[in-house]
Amino acid sequence: MERIDRLIAEMTLAEKLGQLTMIAADYAVTGPVVTPLSEDAIRSGTIGNLLNLYGARPTQRIQKIAVEESRLHIPLLLGFDAIHGHRTIFPIPLAEAGLFDPAAWEATARAAAEECAGDGLHMTFAPMLDVSRDPRWGRIAESPGEDPFVGSSFACAKVRGFQNGSLADSSAVAACAKHYVAYGAVAAGREYSPTDMSEGMLREVYLPPFRAAVQAGVAAIMPSFTDLNGIPMTANIPLLRDVLRGELGFDGVIISDYHAIAELLNHGVAGDLAEAAALALKAGVDIDMMSDAYRLGLPAALQRNLVAMEDIDACVRRVLSLKERLGLFQDPYRRGRADTGITTQSRALARATGARALVLLKNDANALPLATRKIALIGPLADAAGEMRGPWWGAGRGEDCVSVLQGLTEAGFDVRHAPGVAINEDDLSGVATALDLCADSDAILLCLGEAAVMSGEAASRAYLGLPGRQQGLADAVFDKAAGKPVIVVLFSGRPLAVPELVSRAHAVLAAWFPGCEAGHAIADVLTGKLSPSGRTPVSWPRAVGQVPIFFGERPGGRPFNPDDHFTSHYSDVENTPLFPFGHGLTYGDFELSNFRVAPDGDGLTVKVDVANHGALAAEETVFLFLNQKKPGVTRPLLELKGFGKIALRPSEQGTVTLTLPRPIGRAELFVGPKAAFSSLLSLSI
Ligand code: NOJ
Repeated sequence: MERIDRLIAEMTLAEKLGQLTMIAADYAVTGPVVTPLSEDAIRSGTIGNLLNLYGARPTQRIQKIAVEESRLHIPLLLGFDAIHGHRTIFPIPLAEAGLFDPAAWEATARAAAEECAGDGLHMTFAPMLDVSRDPRWGRIAESPGEDPFVGSSFACAKVRGFQNGSLADSSAVAACAKHYVAYGAVAAGREYSPTDMSEGMLREVYLPPFRAAVQAGVAAIMPSFTDLNGIPMTANIPLLRDVLRGELGFDGVIISDYHAIAELLNHGVAGDLAEAAALALKAGVDIDMMSDAYRLGLPAALQRNLVAMEDIDACVRRVLSLKERLGLFQDPYRRGRADTGITTQSRALARATGARALVLLKNDANALPLATRKIALIGPLADAAGEMRGPWWGAGRGEDCVSVLQGLTEAGFDVRHAPGVAINEDDLSGVATALDLCADSDAILLCLGEAAVMSGEAASRAYLGLPGRQQGLADAVFDKAAGKPVIVVLFSGRPLAVPELVSRAHAVLAAWFPGCEAGHAIADVLTGKLSPSGRTPVSWPRAVGQVPIFFGERPGGRPFNPDDHFTSHYSDVENTPLFPFGHGLTYGDFELSNFRVAPDGDGLTVKVDVANHGALAAEETVFLFLNQKKPGVTRPLLELKGFGKIALRPSEQGTVTLTLPRPIGRAELFVGPKAAFSSLLSLSI
C-alpha cells in the first residue's frame, strides 16, 4: 500500500492516465482500430498496459523499457485472450462446458495459464461467462451454454485454473470475467445489438456466473459492448457501481472492452470523448482498452468538472494493486522466462478433453463404434486441420492441429478421402468424385459443418443450417449409400438446426471444434477406444424459429396440450428441441434407480444408483433439477441444481451423490440424464 500511495503522490496526470490505458500490439487483431504501439509512450510512462503482444522475448524487451527507462519504473500489465487455450488449443468453451466436469475445466485453464505466463502474459480476458440461449449469436461458441448453474461452476473452475490460488505465482495469470452482463441476450441474436430484460431474469439467469467469479476471487471484469435496458454497460452505474462493486463486493479491476468507451458516442449517450471518458470513469471502469478516451478525454473532463482527481486516483490505485498482487513490482520478469510451446502433456490433455467433449447425438443400431476400418471420408471438414481450432485460437497454429484424415490414418483406418464441396461455396464439381468413394468402402464418414470463423465475435447467423452446398452433398451421399452406415461428424460453434441431416444419418457426433488434437480425439471415439461422454450444454433447436429455446422455461397458463388448440404451440414445428439440454449418448447402457433424498444440515443430499448394462465401459452424467412452487410467482419447470459423472465398466453399478440447499416450501426434485421429463425420476419434497 505504501508503495502505491507514494507512486500516486508522485505521478503526473499523464502518468496516471497511462496506467488507465491499454493499447494493442499487432500479434493478433481483435478489434476495429489498431493504433501503432509507441515505445516512446511506454518510456514516458503514458502507456501502462498492453494487449495482443506475447512471447518471452518481445514481452521481456518491452517490460524492460517500462521498468528501466520510465521515470517511475512501473511495470506493464500484458493481457491476451486465452479463450480455449493459448498455444495448445482445447475444445471451444461450449464444447468444454458439455464435459460437466469442473476438474477438467480447471485443468485446461491451468494449462493455458502456464503457457500464457511462459509467453510473458499477466492477464487473460477469460473466462467468458455469458449465458447463451440464442445460437444465432456467434459468441455462444465462447460461452458455457444456456444454464446459470453450469456457468457458475464453470466460472469458479476457470478462475481457480487461471489464478492458481495466488496471483503472485509465476505460472498464474489474472482472470478477467466477461462480458458483464447479459451480452448473451442481444436482440435477435445479432452481435452488438442492445439487450432488454427484467431485473428478475437478469438476477436469476445472467448475473450468477459473475457472482460466482467474484466469489472465486476473479481479478478483473470486462463490461459488455451492449446497452442493457437503455444504459450502455461501459457506463452503467447501477450495474457496475451498485451491483458489481457494491452488492457483489468486487474490488478488482474493471477493464473496458475494445474501443467500448469511444463507442459511447455511437450509443448516443456521450457528446464527445471527454463525456464518454467521464461516463465510463464514473461507472468505475479502471482501464480503457483501445479507445484512448482516458488519455485524450479525461484532462478536459477534469477541467469541465465532469470527474474529480479522486475518481482517477481510485482507478489508478486498483490498477497498481493488481500489478502488486501479480508480483510485478517485486520481479517484473517473473513471467516470460521461456516460451513453453506445446508439450507432450498439454497435447495429451487436449486429446483427452477433445474426446470427452464429443457429443454422440444419435447412434442407430450401434453404428458407432465403427465395425470396419475401410471408410470413405467425405466432406469439407475432413482434412481441415486449421479449422479444428474453432473461432479464436490465441497463439495456436494451424500446423499444430490434427485433422480427421490424419487422425484416422494414424489410427490404422483404410481411408479414401474427397471433400465433395467447400464449406461455404456453390461449386458442386467435386461431388461426383466424393460419391464414387462410397462404393469402395464399408462405412461413410461425412465431416460437415461451419467454418471456424462462422462463430465467435461478430459472427451471427440468421440461418442455422449447414452452410454452402453441404446439405446437398449429404443428401447425395445418403442416396448413394446403399445401406452402408453413414456417420456424420458435425463441426460447429453453435447447435445447428439440421433435423433432416440427423434423421437420415445412422449416427451423428457433434464435434463442435475440438481443438488441436481433433483428429486423434475423434479417432479415439470412432474406434471405441473411448466412449463419448459429452452432453450438450444448450438445447438444440429443430428450427431457427424456436430460438431462444432453453429448458428453464416457466410453464405459462396454457401449457401445450395436443388435444386443446388454445394452448402454447407452433403450427409448423414441435415445441420441443431436436435434442434437449444434457442429451448425449455413450457406448454404455445406463439405468438410474433408487432415487432418494435425505436432510443434510441446511441442505439436502440426493442419491441415485447408476448401473451400466452395456457391453462397453462409459461415463454417465446425472443432472439434478428442481421445480419450486412459490405463491404468486411463476417458476421455471426445471432449474438445474447439480450434476455429477460416474465411470462404470460393463455390469458395474455405483451411486451418484449430489447436494443442494433445502428449498423453502413445496418443491419437486428430478434426476436424470437430460432435461426431458420422460427420462427423469422425480420425488416431491
Ligand atoms: C473484443 C472482445 O469482445 C473481447 O472479448 C476481447 O477480450 C477483446 N476484444 C480483446 O481481444
